[in-house]
Amino acid sequence: MAAKQLPAKGTEWESIRQQMLEMGRDDADWRSGRTAVYVFHPGDDVIQVAKDAYALFQSENALGPAAFPSLRQMEADVISMGKSLLHGDEQACGNMTSGGTESILMAVKTCRDQARSRGVDTQGAQIVVPRTAHLAFDKAAHYLGLEMVRVPVAADLRADTRAMAEAVTDRTLMLVGSAPCFPFGLIDPIEELSNLALDRNLWLHVDACVGGYFAPFARMNGIDVPPFDFELPGVASISADLHKYGYAAKGASTVFHRNEEQRAFQLFSCDDWPAGGMTTPTAAGTRPGGAIAGAWAVMHYLGVEGYCEKAKIVTDTREHLMASIDAIDGLKTLGDPQLGLFAYGSESEALPIFSVWGELKKKGWFTGVVTEPRGIHLMLSPSHAEAADQYLADLREAVKKVRDGGGSNEPTEARYA
Ligand SMILES: Cc1ncc(COP(=O)(O)O)c(C=O)c1O
Repeated sequence: MAAKQLPAKGTEWESIRQQMLEMGRDDADWRSGRTAVYVFHPGDDVIQVAKDAYALFQSENALGPAAFPSLRQMEADVISMGKSLLHGDEQACGNMTSGGTESILMAVKTCRDQARSRGVDTQGAQIVVPRTAHLAFDKAAHYLGLEMVRVPVAADLRADTRAMAEAVTDRTLMLVGSAPCFPFGLIDPIEELSNLALDRNLWLHVDACVGGYFAPFARMNGIDVPPFDFELPGVASISADLHKYGYAAKGASTVFHRNEEQRAFQLFSCDDWPAGGMTTPTAAGTRPGGAIAGAWAVMHYLGVEGYCEKAKIVTDTREHLMASIDAIDGLKTLGDPQLGLFAYGSESEALPIFSVWGELKKKGWFTGVVTEPRGIHLMLSPSHAEAADQYLADLREAVKKVRDGGGSNEPTEARYA
């Protein structure tokens, strides 16, 4: 088949639209609650708000706040709302970014550049993280000339503070804790890490990409969420994604700093070209107005009440799923998660869990996996409340099939992306 060329003439939109819908036909079916990774489905109304707000500001560009004071205001509002959820005081500040990876990249760069400003040679300096920290830190370290030190987690699968303390050297710049970690949905002992950071004069970044816009509401609903944010004095920066449990359109995250002196190291300024000086707060040049507007609109649409309602649906669903899965002979949930994400594995060699995953995939369930130990990973949205019982029925059937020797569908390679 000939390589795709730009069509010589345009096509009317309706026919293009149909073609695109057709292209999406084999995509994971997230609208029915059968996908528990990559997509957060809060309900059609919220998605519509995000879509409309995105479209309203889709052409505007937050690279030019002087041209678009609307976006400047919206970003300032989002940061203000976000930091107040995370115990940020008046000094706390931040920026919107395109996603968790960029927020983490910015936090690591800020930490590195602050160290450089103090005369530290940062080439090959270290970031000490629990084994479960997101790979975005490896990406940041790779881009920024730093070295990752991954430390095994404790028996409860959370960060092992003592082991992390032992891993710290005079080359260490940053410690990381997750709230919660992606693999198991567990909140690391951030209070201990905060004390360690203060004790050793290190920067502690809390990766709350998953929990930043969930944990505060779960706590308001009465769930016992341990301290993980700026209420702990050792926490220097936090990443929190709006396009996850903030239910905003994709391309929206926040990175927070304890104060402006710190954030100053995040900025990039240059004027060495013939088109005037440029200062940007994040890695991006052009910053999509739609992503900022979408987040601003969804935050106003849901409010604290709406987020609490969504959080309750998700935590109730997780508890129901976890209790039902633990009741299935041979399966076991991993650790003690409090939010919307959990993983479960098999207790028996006769029940290879990736085969169970394969059977479920055949039935249209698209979920993640974990590898240490092997397990199935579920990141829940409100839309999963209705799908949960069907999932459990299919899971029981899959377990029986694999036990009876009928399923041998192990993925050859477990991939996150
Ligand atoms: C804990 C955690 N941190 C960071 C990220 C990276 O976020 P993004 O995919 O938006 O770049 C994720 C993504 O799932 C995550 O779960």
